[in-house]
Amino acid sequence: MEKVLLLPGDGIGPEVVAQARRVLEVSASQYGVDLDLEEAGIGGNSIDDHGTPLREEVLDIARQSKAILLGAVGGPRWDDLPVLDRPERGLLRMRSELGLFANLRPASVFPALVSASTLRPEVIEGIDMLVLRELTGGLYFGEPRGIDESAAPVRACNSMVYDENEIERIVRVGFESARIRRKHLTHVHKANVLEVSQLWVRVVDRVAPDYPDVELVHQLVDSCAMLLVRDPARFDVIVTGNMFGDILSDEAAMITGSLGMLPSASLGEGGLGLYEPVHGSAPDIAGQDKANPLATILSVAMLFEHSLSLPEAGRSIRQAVTAVLAKGARTPDLILEGDCTKPVGCAEMGTLVLEGLS
Ligand code: IPM
Ligand code: MG
Repeated sequence: MEKVLLLPGDGIGPEVVAQARRVLEVSASQYGVDLDLEEAGIGGNSIDDHGTPLREEVLDIARQSKAILLGAVGGPRWDDLPVLDRPERGLLRMRSELGLFANLRPASVFPALVSASTLRPEVIEGIDMLVLRELTGGLYFGEPRGIDESAAPVRACNSMVYDENEIERIVRVGFESARIRRKHLTHVHKANVLEVSQLWVRVVDRVAPDYPDVELVHQLVDSCAMLLVRDPARFDVIVTGNMFGDILSDEAAMITGSLGMLPSASLGEGGLGLYEPVHGSAPDIAGQDKANPLATILSVAMLFEHSLSLPEAGRSIRQAVTAVLAKGARTPDLILEGDCTKPVGCAEMGTLVLEGLS
């Protein structure tokens, strides 16, 4: 029995996870995997039901699981809460408590979606990159942090903190990933301003001789943001800290056509993995059957590869998605303004992928 915890979350989370669950179940039975699925709350719904975005018992179930599939968290309903009580904290705590430091965000172009990108076809042709984001450190977790309401004027601070061990373990994942791809690693930093980035450069350079077959480039984050829109196909693996990775992965996703297509895997030192779409909870379209379930379905493909050691199952899901897109099925996010393609809904997109699973 392989235990998988489903955390649908808020907004469009439940809709996209429902479709991904169907794909997970069908693929598992095709490949002879006995699944033990459990579902629990996280984020805003958990705040409403239990007064906290992540209950200890849910964290315990997560620890006993092989993998976790998450939808999205957050929404305007909880916008006025202090940062440490918000829905997002549930997700951040989960990542941190489970030690899921390596966040893999692959961005590539599906041939059928070339025209969905706002960039010209010749620019996006051949995009195939992996944004590797450090997920449990940096500005998201550094201390001190907080708002000093008693100061005049009121002040707030966050701290970007990394030690060399935290940097080295993600950088090694970067080199290892590059090794089995196109052997090119871009380290993204802001070492002309930040001491933390200077330490990253130092650690990357110290580790690099262990991977002589990988070509290494250090790139400032602002120029990386620019190159991503000017010449995205040049990138293979990008390794960077938590905050830069958050921003650049949205950019990388969007140039491939839609944020609705990008999956992710968050891995730690054990086998446990958390799989989630890179997009958010999109409260404006929640409950209307308009969401694109493909990022979550593609996250299931990554789940098979990384947590269930079944790369063939992952490949077959990806092939089914490619085929469905090639036949012209598009959720609204994949249709540019002025294009009169008739959109399919979230559930129908799920059904089409299921039909394509051989
Ligand atoms: C992401 C999201 C999260 C993050 C939010 C929801 C906390 O934007 O996974 O990229 O900032 O890490
Ligand atoms: Mg983000």
